[in-house]
Amino acid sequence: MSDPTDDDMLIQTDVSDSVSAGSSTVTDTVVEAKDINVWYDDDQALHDISLAIPERQVTAMIGPSGCGKSTFLRCINRMNDLIDAARVDGELYLGDKNVYDADVDPVALRRRVGMVFQKPNPFPKSIRENVLYGLKVQGIDADYDKVVEESLRKAALWDEVKDRLDESGLELSGGQQQRLCIARAIAPDPEVILMDEPASALDPIATSQIEDLIADLAEQYTVVIVTHNMQQAARISDKTAVFLTGGELVEFDDTQKIFENPESERVEDYITGKFG
Ligand SMILES: Nc1ncnc2c1ncn2[C@@H]1O[C@H](COP(=O)(O)OP(=O)(O)OP(=O)(O)O)[C@@H](O)[C@H]1O
Ligand SMILES: [Mg+2]
Repeated sequence: MSDPTDDDMLIQTDVSDSVSAGSSTVTDTVVEAKDINVWYDDDQALHDISLAIPERQVTAMIGPSGCGKSTFLRCINRMNDLIDAARVDGELYLGDKNVYDADVDPVALRRRVGMVFQKPNPFPKSIRENVLYGLKVQGIDADYDKVVEESLRKAALWDEVKDRLDESGLELSGGQQQRLCIARAIAPDPEVILMDEPASALDPIATSQIEDLIADLAEQYTVVIVTHNMQQAARISDKTAVFLTGGELVEFDDTQKIFENPESERVEDYITGKFG
């Protein structure tokens, strides 16, 4: 009989290895922002944001409401293109390609950079069709049954839905809907997964499932997560970027350093709850 604690320990070891690698080893950069500025009409929302996001780690973005976290996330997959008032200036590299180059197709880019939003937003379609949505929209041929199973397994939802794949995604609980949205983001096999407060609409148990899932996802994908929950950032991320009011990136470093010994007094005040 196999001993389940062996498996548990294996998983534990993998996770702690990747965390310590984040603070001690040079890793590849997958997304790099260089002097990104964003305006909504005449109001500047982000000022000269430069940062390098490491591959296959969790990078958290924290900061008070309105400081530009969502705006920055949307720069990475060019979702700001969909906002008429928004104007983005600067360079943002995915690998060695500036995604703002004229020859980049934003739809193809969004296949490489998936996104999960705060409010679970499954489409009024079956669970199966929700997972396959991105592939079908882009006319990508694949072994659909395999993609559905693999994506739902990676999203830790398969066991709960495998007998009801043709039921509507809207019939799932909030936490299950969010995992379905994660499965939908994973299905086209992206390189980067952006998550904008993915657990803030969920109860503590569903939140903890999403947090566990994020740690698993980071073994294969680069995860960038916006969160208002500082404990959550401290628990799940390898790197933390602190944005502060006015749309500045004030500090970006290993999560442990940010939370234990930040360079900036403003960051220290924010982390310790003196303002924000
Ligand atoms: N679609 C939009 N049109 C005009 N202004 C916008 C738009 N989206 C954001 N802004 C402005 O840009 C600034 C940054 O907003 P953003 O939503 O990026 O902040 P945030 O850090 O994600 O805040 P929160 O924590 O509340 O989600 C704010 O001043 C906001 O009012
Ligand atoms: Mg936001």
